[in-house]
Amino acid sequence: MTVVATGVGRAFGGVQALRDASFAARPGEIHALAGENGAGKSTLIKVLCGAIRADTGTVTVEGRIATAFQELSLLPDLTVAENLLLAAPPRGRLGLVRRGRLADEAALVLSRYGATGVDPRSPARDLAVSQKQVVELVRVLAMEPDVVFLDEPTAALAEREVDWLAGHMRRLRDAGACVIFTSHRWREIERLADRVTVFRNGTDVATRERLTEEEAITLMTGRTLGATYPDISGIVPGENALTVSGLTSGRLREVSFELRRGEILGVGGLAGQGQRDLFLTLFGAGKPTAGGLSAGGSRARAVRQPRDAIRAGIAYVPEDRKAEGLLLHLSIRDNVALATLARRSRAGFIRQRAEKAAVSGIAAKLDIGAGRSTAQAAGTLSGGNQQKAVMARWLLTDADVFLLYDVTRGVDAATKHDIYHLIADLARDGKAILFYSSETEEIAGLCHRVLVLREGRIVSELRGPVGDAETIVAASIREPADA
Ligand SMILES: Nc1ncnc2c1ncn2[C@@H]1O[C@H](COP(=O)(O)OP(=O)(O)OP(=O)(O)O)[C@@H](O)[C@H]1O
Ligand SMILES: [Mg+2]
Repeated sequence: MTVVATGVGRAFGGVQALRDASFAARPGEIHALAGENGAGKSTLIKVLCGAIRADTGTVTVEGRIATAFQELSLLPDLTVAENLLLAAPPRGRLGLVRRGRLADEAALVLSRYGATGVDPRSPARDLAVSQKQVVELVRVLAMEPDVVFLDEPTAALAEREVDWLAGHMRRLRDAGACVIFTSHRWREIERLADRVTVFRNGTDVATRERLTEEEAITLMTGRTLGATYPDISGIVPGENALTVSGLTSGRLREVSFELRRGEILGVGGLAGQGQRDLFLTLFGAGKPTAGGLSAGGSRARAVRQPRDAIRAGIAYVPEDRKAEGLLLHLSIRDNVALATLARRSRAGFIRQRAEKAAVSGIAAKLDIGAGRSTAQAAGTLSGGNQQKAVMARWLLTDADVFLLYDVTRGVDAATKHDIYHLIADLARDGKAILFYSSETEEIAGLCHRVLVLREGRIVSELRGPVGDAETIVAASIREPADA
């Protein structure tokens, strides 16, 4: 074994993140760590790679270690090249860093690992989330490590990039490295992992070569989940909430559709076909070159900037929930209440008790921090729980239209389940929902209707419930009849 932890304990203040946890991985294997949000996966990785110390127990790791942490660690003001080569920049004879060569060198490294489409000269700040993650991963790969820790490496990646990473993980494994990763997507674990260790409440509960998703969920949660997707057949869409006509913006080409109250409308298609531009533009954050949109049925108003969108009752739960930012030193409650605060204080007063009740309600519903008090600092939450807190913030605004962009990323199976039901409840309350997910299955399972995008156009409209992801994928690649 190259990686061995025995009887490890680690506490943060009063929180016992790991208790008597043991773990072992060998060279030439891909080993997955599974478990609910807050189970202790990231803490274990930090202990194993030496980023933090264990309070008790022993840890042995042999070989050169490289780690991609769950929280991205790129420095936003530095360029991609600077971020990539920070550890070992090209130096001149006097040992000075040769800035002029940095970009060329970085371009070489990026292409060696097949990471095309990232400009080494651009500041990290300007990259899309997925690109940031790719740079982070290239930095890890370039160390040619013996032991690799990848904490939620795919949570910010598109499907194509997941395939790219999978290729590298296998290559490292086949070359004898020990690859350890975490993921909340069972399909990835199934596809990649030689063995899986399941964590629950800070300790390992099983290590297996074979495990079904159902068994895994039972091990992770101690319970079995009911039907994955809520039954939405009884929810009948009502009046128009959003009208989009001939919208052309970024990658979008002449997109027209209507979204009705009580409707969950899916946006499908292969990755990068304009889904992101659609959501941004609907929130007033993209600049349409043609067409436009209006929100509200009878008293429709045009949306040209985010301010219009918010006034028109549109809430956008974006992809980059990290940059979107929790204020980590503020309490969970204050963070969740942030979006509603502006709204309520505009009305002249803040209804503190109502707010507290609303926040506690949603925190319980999404199981943010496993029943911990919402008075605790947001920075003490696990990665997935921080995401849930940002999501809760937007769900609390009493918007009419919810733009939900990949909201289940990095969220554990049980909470995903809760989120699906929460979305159905919103629809039942007459909210209009536009739903995109990088997991096509979710779109198939949850939506009344699905618009399939290709090269920025709607190429197909599927009436739901679609049921299986294959139907959407088939529609994404089929030639449209009238093109
Ligand atoms: N710096 C910290 N201060 C206080 N508590 C912390 C800190 N870091 C982690 N914890 C707590 O330790 C527990 C384990 O967290 P950890 O981040 O290891 O979970 P995880 O399994 O990686 O979850 P996720 O799937 O959400 O990433 C959680 O209860 C978390 O809130
Ligand atoms: Mg984690």
